[in-house]
Amino acid sequence: MPTAKDSSEVIVFAPATVANVACGYDVLGFAIDEPGDYIVARHADKPGLRITAITGDDGKLPLDPEKNTATVAALDLLHHLGMTDRGIEIEIHKRMPFGSGLGSSAASAVAGAYAVNKLIGEPLSKMQLLPFAMTGEASADGAWHADNVGPCLLGGIVFIRDNDELDVAQLPVPKNLWAAVVHPDIEILTKVAREILPKDIPLANATQQIGNLGGLLCGLIQSDYGLISRSIHDVIAEPRRQKLIPDFYKAKRAAMAAGALGFSISGAGPSVFALCEGKEIAEEAGEAIAKVFNTIPLSNQVHISPVNQKGVQVVDKIPELK
Ligand code: HSE
Repeated sequence: MPTAKDSSEVIVFAPATVANVACGYDVLGFAIDEPGDYIVARHADKPGLRITAITGDDGKLPLDPEKNTATVAALDLLHHLGMTDRGIEIEIHKRMPFGSGLGSSAASAVAGAYAVNKLIGEPLSKMQLLPFAMTGEASADGAWHADNVGPCLLGGIVFIRDNDELDVAQLPVPKNLWAAVVHPDIEILTKVAREILPKDIPLANATQQIGNLGGLLCGLIQSDYGLISRSIHDVIAEPRRQKLIPDFYKAKRAAMAAGALGFSISGAGPSVFALCEGKEIAEEAGEAIAKVFNTIPLSNQVHISPVNQKGVQVVDKIPELK
């Protein structure tokens, strides 16, 4: 695995994210510490942006820079800066499963834009990179929502007032807020999970969802764990999408019995998450959820993490696979 040698090369890590956070469909998300994707960007003599290697994708990702999420984001940035003839080589090291609900394509898009921006001397701030990373992600799932890209780029818990205007705000993260995120080994295409949602929703559901979203935001701002817990409910997407996740409600009951504040689907699924007060409860909730999937049996990976407040960042090297 490569190690950054000098300023002619940059290695970045972009973390997984939990989108929606139950009641914030398309408008709320947070980053976790692991897993995530790595991208190496380096200067090259030959003009233009090229992908020189992709690992961890089972050969599924295109090497064509115009088609790969990471380089679509980077190219959009270079185009904006009038620098498309810069010689840049990109290596992509995927460490996140596809169709996992962990924001895999968002992480690659963010990493692509961020790595190239760093390599060329950081002309733009993280916040200014948001539209370019969004273009990259949209090239993968065709939808325009910043609830993965936002927290992956900026870190923390990010609320999006308007996805078209990309009007986003970072929320304070209560001390001791942890997440157990469990990925069962099935794949759900975001496109499919979006198609099963209704175009219109009853007013009563909208009112409930707005109440819960407002409650969750207030709970986060005031570090009020009771209010956070009462607010983690999704009456719009979860009731429809849970069908795609085996034993979803069993897993939910197990997480809540372990003391979680709340439980729902991470993004479009199949990953699920439990928000918890403290690491210990998060570990217990993670174990309880994994036990439900193991009983099916359905293999799964458990990630216990505080909210990652850094977002995408430069790293010294890419760790070996465990
Ligand atoms: N908010 C999106 C969804 C996240 O739930 O479809 C998936 O990328």
